[in-house]
Amino acid sequence: QSGYFTYDPGFTSTASCDSAITYIDGDKGVLLHRGYSIEDLAENCDFLEVCHLLLRGELPKAQELEDFRNTITYHTMVHEQLMNFFRGFRRDAHPMAVMVGVVGALSAFYHDSTDINDPEQRMIASHRLVAKMPTIAAMAYKYSIGQPFMYPRNDLSYAHNFLRMTFGVPAEDYEVAPAVVRAMDRIFILHADHEQNASTSTVRLAGSSGANPFACISAGISSLWGPAHGGANEAVLNMLTEIGDKKNIPEFLARAKDKDDPFRLMGFGHRVYKNYDPRAGVLKKSCDEVLDQLGVQDPLLELARELEKIALEDDYFVQRKLFPNVDFYSGIILKAIGFPTSMFTVLFALARTVGWVAQWNEMIADPHQKIGRPRQLFLGHDQREFVPVDKR
Ligand code: SDX
Repeated sequence: QSGYFTYDPGFTSTASCDSAITYIDGDKGVLLHRGYSIEDLAENCDFLEVCHLLLRGELPKAQELEDFRNTITYHTMVHEQLMNFFRGFRRDAHPMAVMVGVVGALSAFYHDSTDINDPEQRMIASHRLVAKMPTIAAMAYKYSIGQPFMYPRNDLSYAHNFLRMTFGVPAEDYEVAPAVVRAMDRIFILHADHEQNASTSTVRLAGSSGANPFACISAGISSLWGPAHGGANEAVLNMLTEIGDKKNIPEFLARAKDKDDPFRLMGFGHRVYKNYDPRAGVLKKSCDEVLDQLGVQDPLLELARELEKIALEDDYFVQRKLFPNVDFYSGIILKAIGFPTSMFTVLFALARTVGWVAQWNEMIADPHQKIGRPRQLFLGHDQREFVPVDKR
């Protein structure tokens, strides 16, 4: 019991785990990380401050933040031999396939030095993953376009470093508008953690067996890839492109309601939010800011706004409490910054890594933690007599 919210015994009886990291009230559209609202964090922090909050439980004091930034910065390089893993992929491999493979391969470099029963070594592994994901994500993009890999630099912020490794080239200095760096950083904050979603539950289940954290994060990336989960941001852009014009919106809304049609309105609906996803509200505001500052006129943004307006006036969506979620506007900003749609879920995985490792740490640190073992509702045959093949 606390002043803010009371526990619903019914809910906790169905809860998959105890956690103190992120709280969601789906009916009120509330998202708190360690008690701080996502709106406050997105407005006032940078991503590494939020990483410190998620991993260590508190917003850092100035010196703590400086020390944390240095720790992450000095882990951003990857082992030179890791580059060979990229060269085994076809150039047109989906970057999420590359991420699953390369992040899993980190186990081969750090598995032996990661005793998961040692809290310090768990935190070092967590720092390595948070620090190296931007480098690996940028390398996946560079490999797909045949450009040379860019090494991280220690004088740049987390988001700036990532943008330079992605869009910079060795032949010239990389320039980027501060507004774009801020938007990138804010997108990372909005995707950092989200309680026990499918990919986080995947990381927890894999980690509950004692598997090393690099392999667990690779499993989380695999789960996030699905279009019903993190793959939705890529699917939203593809959907808006397919709709093409406002006059086609009614046809697609009709398809979204048709139970015989597999089409769903991507970027709408949520397993938990039955109100506006607070992250979508922040992203919708950022969309305007970023596109204005970049001088980008994207007809897809107007189309998205019109689609949202019409859907939120439609009984089918209103009755089912289907509101825009975090994926509805994020893709439009990412496209404006210059990312291809194939990189959208990679960016989601990059940002969610801190949430995955924070949740993994919390689980491993629990002395009562046991291996996950979901049960089933058995719907098959009762025991029956065996029949040899010549008698079947
Ligand atoms: C993320 O869990 C998390 O926290 C995830 C996430 C995170 O940060 O980790 O928030 C990130 O995954 C966001 C969701 C991204 N996915 C999409 O945008 C894909 C489109 N959305 C749908 O696939 C769907 O809304 C889900 C998968 C997100 C939720 O599916 P549910 O749980 O089945 O939705 P529901 O139970 O609320 O559905 C109620 C009704 C159903 O119809 P009826 O049987 O009542 O007639 O609404 C319908 C659903 O068919 N419905 C939709 C719809 N989503 C639900 N109909 C049309 N379009 C949709 N998008």
